[in-house]
Amino acid sequence: MPVIEVARQAGACYGVERALKMALEASDSASQPVHTLGPLIHNPLVVADLEERGVRPAADPAEAGSGTLVIRAHGVTPQVIADAEARGLAVVDATCPYVKRVHRAAARLAAEGYQVLVVGESGHPEVQGILGHAGEGARVVSDEDDLAGLALCDKVGVVVQTTQTAERLAHVVAALVGRVGELRVINTICEATSERQAAAAELAERSDVMIVIGGRESGNTRRLAQICRERCMNTHHIEDAAELDAAWFDEAERIGITAGASTPAEQIERTVAQIERVVAA
Ligand code: F3S
Repeated sequence: MPVIEVARQAGACYGVERALKMALEASDSASQPVHTLGPLIHNPLVVADLEERGVRPAADPAEAGSGTLVIRAHGVTPQVIADAEARGLAVVDATCPYVKRVHRAAARLAAEGYQVLVVGESGHPEVQGILGHAGEGARVVSDEDDLAGLALCDKVGVVVQTTQTAERLAHVVAALVGRVGELRVINTICEATSERQAAAAELAERSDVMIVIGGRESGNTRRLAQICRERCMNTHHIEDAAELDAAWFDEAERIGITAGASTPAEQIERTVAQIERVVAA
């Protein structure tokens, strides 16, 4: 019987678990419809489960119409909350406290006269939300190459999307030194992502098979699968335990499991149980 081991840190992070709990509480207590602003997390199973409980995604406050609107962990701009409240929606703000910390840092820098640079993925909902707190001249850069041709003020303040790597932040900061008179950097990276990646890498190194659980659209799950594949050729990214194939485990002595930040603990447990059944058969 092979050893089945789940990575030390795997699956839903604090902010995602919290948002999920808040959405479920809202649906239990609300007499009117409950919407989430966009899918609550990049996990089709969880989104389908929420829909069964009457919690549906809405693209914007106008689409939600009436009832309760849950703001997901990524956060939003202050304008979105104001718009929802002006429409009479009850807002449940499930923005992750670590994302709120970025909002506060960006707002403080802007108030102190810094041009805010957000290191992150432009277009990502979290980054859009941060921009809404970062003042007029704020810009997004994904890496140091994006700085070329960017008009910079003399005072620049840097914040960073929570899921970025310290390495990327360091490269941008190094490229800024010498280009501006005053540079202030607030490291707002959340360690949940890097801890999950390090734990997955360590486990993949010593596993014969790696199973990575999470939505196919989830960027952080795909990144985990890539990290595992670089260390364990027999890596499989699945969304659901039903996708497991007995042939993957032939001759495996150690089976490693990790999961993206949008995979609840219960999905990991289901996968472990299913692997146990498959290898025992
Ligand atoms: Fe929050 Fe960090 Fe998760 S910012 S949503 S705990 S990845």
